[in-house]
Order: sequence, then structure tokens, then C-alpha cells
Amino acid sequence: HRPGLILAVETSCDETSVAVVENGTIIRSNVVSSQIDTHKRYGGVVPEIASRQHVESVTLILEEAVQAAGIRLADLSAVAVTQGPGLVGSLLVGVVAAKTLACALQIPLIGVHHIAGHIYANELVHQLEYPLVSLVVSGGHTELVHVPSPGVFRIIGQTRDDAAGEAYDKVARAMGLPYPGGPHVDRLAHEADEGVPLPRVWLEPDSYDFSFSGLKSAVLAVLNQAKMRGEVVQPMRISKGFQDSVVEVLVEKAIRASKAFGAKQLMLAGGVAANKGLREALADRCAREELPLLVPPLSLCTDNAAMIAAAAFLKWERGELSSLDLKAEALLSL
Ligand code: KG4
Ligand code: ZN
Repeated sequence: HRPGLILAVETSCDETSVAVVENGTIIRSNVVSSQIDTHKRYGGVVPEIASRQHVESVTLILEEAVQAAGIRLADLSAVAVTQGPGLVGSLLVGVVAAKTLACALQIPLIGVHHIAGHIYANELVHQLEYPLVSLVVSGGHTELVHVPSPGVFRIIGQTRDDAAGEAYDKVARAMGLPYPGGPHVDRLAHEADEGVPLPRVWLEPDSYDFSFSGLKSAVLAVLNQAKMRGEVVQPMRISKGFQDSVVEVLVEKAIRASKAFGAKQLMLAGGVAANKGLREALADRCAREELPLLVPPLSLCTDNAAMIAAAAFLKWERGELSSLDLKAEALLSL
């Protein structure tokens, strides 16, 4: 075995991914097979189809990742897998694949929380300094996480309804844009000079929680009114109005949390971290506040197995291993 060489499997949603990462930092391979083209037809992820596709591709992706890494299976020191949260049928495919490999190679299995993976994607490219605050924004999550020391996660705020990415996708769908709509809304927002006025939802003054369903309803109301008046809807202006509202609230709360928890770094994670508007606004604000901002490269923002391997390395170093009766959990808590 080569110490610290971890193979990770991620199948929590609609990406089948396998990666080989050395010492939690060197990506030897990170193969991601997206099912987006399949789910596009239905305007969202269809769980049954997702798990079936994972079954079809997981072995191939595994072989490809091992080959691309230029390693032998015997070199591996552990196998990691996303245990949850996610679609249970999809998670199961990855868990069974990882268990089989760990069992056959007689090496440890390490179950990883998907959000810990998103957060530790940053460790693949940055030097982390604790305490830090992470803003995790994806299709399934919107969380502000206080990380006082390595591997310790305290959720200080979360969405009370839709996740940020989910709101993006729903608004995009209402405007007739293809799934996933987040990147389209982001692009359109940058093409408008001015957005339609939309509310900002702050909740209680001291709350770090989020709520996006009211904003989504406000967008639908604007679209409906325009339709009834026979006006042409302007997706660019709506996208900009929506994005401005989401970004303003995310940035404000992330900065407030960073100050309150004495964060040495603010870290962005999750699929919506690819959002240009959010990246720009956060970079701007962090520069003014003299707060170091960590943003992973786009390829590590969306679901991938390298981030799972990075989070697993921390557990491996500490001997926090899982047993072979590890269960996929749709609602695993951080
Ligand atoms: O992390 P991820 O790949 O999967 C989950 O764990 O959910 O995140 C996918 C989400 C989708 O909702 C997608 O629309 C959103 O991230 N997304 C974006 C952008 N790129 C991806 N949302 C806004 N702007 C973007 N540029
Ligand atoms: Zn994710």
C-alpha cells in the first residue's frame, strides 16, 4: 500500500464520479460522468433513472479513474464513499461499489458526508486556516457552517425551504430554460443592466437561516402578471433581479457569520459556488472586509469524487474508519 492513496466514489445525485487522491491534496484522477442529458428531458432529476444509470456506469468510471491515476488497486490505502445525504437509490450504488472494493482489497472503508466533501474540495487547492466559515450552496443545500477545527462542523444557518440551487432551477424552469437552470440564469443576469425589483428575505435580525421560496413565488407572480397583460417577459431582467436578491442575502449573512465566529477564512462550496455573480460579490466584499476568501475552481464546485477523497483523508489520518455494514442515508446529518 502507498500511504494516503484514497479512491473515492460519489453517486449521491446525478453524477457518477470516481477519483484517486493522494494525501488529501494531489488529484491523481477525478472522473465525472454527468447524467444531465438524460434528466434534461424531464426538467429535473428522476431518482429511479438516476440509480439505474449509476449501476450502468459505476464500474466503467471506476476502471477509468484507476487507469487515469496510473495506479494499481493494490496501491490503495482506503476506499471512501458518499454515505449521504442524497437520493437513497443513487447513494446505494456507490456504497455497494465501495464496500465491494474495500472487501476485495482488504482495506478500510470510509463513509463521508456529502457536505463535508463540498467543504473539503477547498483543501485540494488551498491551505485552510481555522476557525473558518463555509457557505455551502448547491442544488440540495444552503448552509452556513462554522468549522472551528479540522473535521468539526457546526451548522449555524440553513434554508428553511428551497436550497439556493433549487430556487435557481425552479425560476429557470418557469422561464422555459433547460435543466439545470442555474448557469443559464447566471449568464442572463450578466446581460441585463437592471433587474426587476424583487424582495430580499432576511428573516429574524439575528438569524443565519435562509428562505428562497418567497422569492421564487415573487418571480412567478411577475411572470404571470406579464403574461396576463400580454407583455413580453424579459428573462434577462428577471434573472438579474433574482440573482441580485439571492446574492445580496447570501453575501451579507456569510460576512456577518464570519465576523461573529472570528473566521480566518470564508470558504465557498457547492454547485452554486460556480455562480459568477456570487463569486464577484463575495470577492468584492471580502476584499473590503480584509477577509481571505477561498473559492474552489469550477470543476471542484459541482459534485465530484475528489472532494469526497479529500474529506476522507482527514478521517483516515485520524483512524475514523467505517465498518462494512455502513448504510446509505438519504438524510444523514453533518
Ligand atoms: O453541488 P451540485 O453539483 O449538486 C448538489 O449537490 O446539489 O449543485 C448543482 C446545483 C444546481 O442547482 C445548479 O443549477 C447549480 O448548482 N448551479 C448554479 C450555477 N452552476 C451550477 N447556480 C447558479 N449559478 C451557476 N453558475
Ligand atoms: Zn453536491
